[in-house]
Amino acid sequence: MQTQPRVKWWTRLGDWLDERFDIRIPLEAFLNKPVPKHAIKWYFCLGGITFALFVIQGVTGILLSLYYKPTPTDAYDSILFIMNNVRFGWLIRSIHAWSAKLMIAMCIAHMLRVFITGSYKKPRELNWVAGTFLLLLTLAFGFTGYLLPWDQTALWGSTVGSEILGAIPLVGDALLGLLRGGPDVTGLTLTRFYGAHMLVLPALIFVFLGAHFVIIRRQGISGPL
Ligand code: HEM
Repeated sequence: MQTQPRVKWWTRLGDWLDERFDIRIPLEAFLNKPVPKHAIKWYFCLGGITFALFVIQGVTGILLSLYYKPTPTDAYDSILFIMNNVRFGWLIRSIHAWSAKLMIAMCIAHMLRVFITGSYKKPRELNWVAGTFLLLLTLAFGFTGYLLPWDQTALWGSTVGSEILGAIPLVGDALLGLLRGGPDVTGLTLTRFYGAHMLVLPALIFVFLGAHFVIIRRQGISGPL
């Protein structure tokens, strides 16, 4: 008796979805785009590395949020609890903190690559603008996350950081009040930074990442030089 070749489960799932939504052809057309030879270089991977670090931030951030308590009375203790009592809590927190720093470094390195190879020029100007917003959002993630441990370093770091933003001409005072929720860094500031870190910034970065990637797919990668 002849045995039928085994069909992989993901092929069967694909067939099942295709029968219902007719998605195979448009999806394959969208995904199957070979990387041009000139772009197979390490410095063309910096944007992808930034994105990989963003995904790591998302996953470790969700895990931390299972134990972190965003109130002035509990925040610091919840960090101690994560470090000392939660299994691998120290590791998850350290990965989150280190990949945050790396993400900023990689984002800047990626931006420099785009600048040096002139990839910001026509027709990619709008993607440069989207990228600038992505850099600002990445920095905002770092800034709002810095306060969350609610220790002395966090408190004074955020005090000085928000003071700097308050010095921006015209909008500085309003921005300072909006960020701090009053003249000083208090529990209200912690609530606001937590809300920004967990809700507002993720929502915004998804919009700009989506735009960034759609533009890259439409225009293709720049070059060769
Ligand atoms: C969260 C931050 C960012 C992520 C995840 C990201 C991701 C990417 C990826 C995956 C690519 C494909 C090519 C490559 O990897 O080099 C790319 C291309 C591009 N990025 Fe970004 N990017 C970010 C920030 C920025 C910034 C800050 C700028 C500039 C201000 C920028 C401008 C561009 C431009 C103009 C391209 C097209 C380059 C080309 O066609 O050669 N991006 N980005």
